[in-house]
Amino acid sequence: MAKITTASLLNMKQQGEKISTITAYDASFAKLFDQAGIHAILIGDSLGMVLQGQDSTLPVTIEDMAYHTRCVKRGVEEPLIIADMPFMSYANEEQALANAALLMQAGASMVKIEGGAWLNGTITALVERGVPVCAHLGLTPQSVNILGGFKVQGRDDNKAQQMIADAKALEAAGAQLLVLECIPASLGKAISQALTIPTIGIGAGKDTDGQILVMHDALGIACNYMPKFSRNFLKDTGDIKKAIELYISEVSQGNFPGDEHIFK
Ligand code: KIV
Repeated sequence: MAKITTASLLNMKQQGEKISTITAYDASFAKLFDQAGIHAILIGDSLGMVLQGQDSTLPVTIEDMAYHTRCVKRGVEEPLIIADMPFMSYANEEQALANAALLMQAGASMVKIEGGAWLNGTITALVERGVPVCAHLGLTPQSVNILGGFKVQGRDDNKAQQMIADAKALEAAGAQLLVLECIPASLGKAISQALTIPTIGIGAGKDTDGQILVMHDALGIACNYMPKFSRNFLKDTGDIKKAIELYISEVSQGNFPGDEHIFK
């Protein structure tokens, strides 16, 4: 397989091929996921919860993200590497440019930021300077204190319409990928159909252009908790590489997520 770029992901959407993505935080897992055929790897700020044992992603720093991005980069040849910009590291344009530079120099090929149309100027500034951007709507964990918990978003019609408008604005500003987290499946479908760029869902139904899981959830090693939208692929296979191969094939055949993983 050739090195995967944002153009490859766009092409996959156009061809109706599903994109499989997973988080990784170190070289060894990243290499295994690459060998299994994963299309993109996210160094998620979820590392605050699954690696550091924090109760949210807020304590994660740009230094943490740059360190884990460097680790992942050393293990990866083909998948697109996306790195999360942590809480308050893109609160204004100047900060966003400086912190995105740290992640790109650490080995990312794209950065991910959480939020709606307020990010338009930042996205355009990043893209104009050579930094591809993945946007993130729905349950945006860095805003957990505003949202009042890790809750499904976009269930009421006004909020759903607002999210569709935000998604279009982020695309127009230059975002090349959009993560949709914990929203009703019907909204995941509507946003994916309204955009040219690929959408990657986590708890957003089966009609997004791809799926992403936190690796600890996909392998059933998250501390005593399995989110409704996830599945333990290791249980079915007993081998980490085979588990990720199964995840990729279930996504590509439209078998994952199943009805039991979907929000209405
Ligand atoms: O931090 C992360 O792992 C994420 C995914 C849940 C999309 O943002």
